[in-house]
Amino acid sequence: MKKLFITFEGIDGCGKSTQAKILYEKLNNLNIKAVLTEEPGGTEGANEIRKLLLRENNYCWSVETEVLLFMAARNDHVEKKIKPALSNGNTVICDRFIDSTLVYQGMRSDLAKNVCLSLYDLIGLIPDLTFIIDMDPQKALKRALSRKTNEDRYENYGVSFQNNVRNTFLKLAKEHPERVVIIEGNNDKDKLATEVYSHVNKFINKNAFI
Ligand code: TYD
Repeated sequence: MKKLFITFEGIDGCGKSTQAKILYEKLNNLNIKAVLTEEPGGTEGANEIRKLLLRENNYCWSVETEVLLFMAARNDHVEKKIKPALSNGNTVICDRFIDSTLVYQGMRSDLAKNVCLSLYDLIGLIPDLTFIIDMDPQKALKRALSRKTNEDRYENYGVSFQNNVRNTFLKLAKEHPERVVIIEGNNDKDKLATEVYSHVNKFINKNAFI
């Protein structure tokens, strides 16, 4: 039977990684085989590309080059980790996926967005269910910057950039109601987790997954 591919998306600091982890643990507790992974990264090669993209550096990639790098990392991740895990009967939970590229890069350039869309076939995988954790950009950015790392390129663009990211995610949700669910992220994390799981459960029952 087909396995579920679930992605979590949202602005920096919205709490999506926490929710991805809680869902992973919940499925484990229910003895449902699951794999938790993240982008950019997930494989050794993709993590090398992540470093090229996210550390402050002197390369000054154009946004179109960024798309190619994110998509190259994603292709390696899909080929080596996500597709094999799905084939082995796992539900795969991924912290960020192609929607992040459509939003973070796509909102800055139509050409970049079209490059991303044109490489969809190469990736060959669309999430079955995508959660966008929606949150006030000011609060989320404060949270993201409080855990300062050496990978803060996009956080450093400031609150108006994050506002744009948020609005572009909300627009994308409207365009794909068949798979995208918006979760109000300002609530307590356990409340969010209950809401997320109820959608997963509903989806499984409706589609006879797992
Ligand atoms: P992530 O590791 O999810 O960081 P955080 O947990 O702080 O959200 O993502 C790192 C950054 O990479 C984040 O600012 C979003 C950006 N990004 C893109 O710009 N395009 C992409 O395709 C992906 C996957 C991430």
